[in-house]
Amino acid sequence: MSKACSSEETIEAGRRFASELRKGDLVLLMGVLGAGKTTFVRGVASVLAPNAHVSSPSFTLMKIYRGTDLVMYHIDFYRLRSVQELWDIRIEEFLEDGVVLVEWPGRFPSLAKLPHWSVILRVSGDCRWIDIRRS
Ligand SMILES: Nc1ncnc2c1ncn2[C@@H]1O[C@H](COP(=O)(O)OP(=O)(O)OP(=O)(O)O)[C@@H](O)[C@H]1O
Ligand SMILES: [Mg+2]
Repeated sequence: MSKACSSEETIEAGRRFASELRKGDLVLLMGVLGAGKTTFVRGVASVLAPNAHVSSPSFTLMKIYRGTDLVMYHIDFYRLRSVQELWDIRIEEFLEDGVVLVEWPGRFPSLAKLPHWSVILRVSGDCRWIDIRRS
């Protein structure tokens, strides 16, 4: 468990966590609106794909950052509108060449059946308690 009391510290926590990640890793990010999930992902991206410009796929549910030897997929299910959109996202294929980070994974419950990292962000004023575990 670590404590981050600014966006910069949350980004730094993401940076530290990035060194644990390998191709094939799935990361489920949990926490209320504004907890800092996207902020944390920015830190991860700064390590895994430091020079990436974000590729823009045809749907906003997902951003793709190309690193040198892996691809980082950042998916946000908050705006998921239909099951059809879900079929377009082939997470298991993405895991073959990269790392997948998912915000609001509860919208896609079967995800949690895959081996994954849980990153749980709890808000306490300006601070965030960040709990990371392997499941
Ligand atoms: N310690 C902190 N860590 C991260 N963000 C913080 C912190 N303190 C304040 N903030 C603010 O909280 C917000 C976090 O936004 P962010 O988009 O990262 O959250 P999120 O969990 O991705 O939300 P959403 O569920 O809407 O996608 C930002 O506005 C940020 O400036
Ligand atoms: Mg977010």
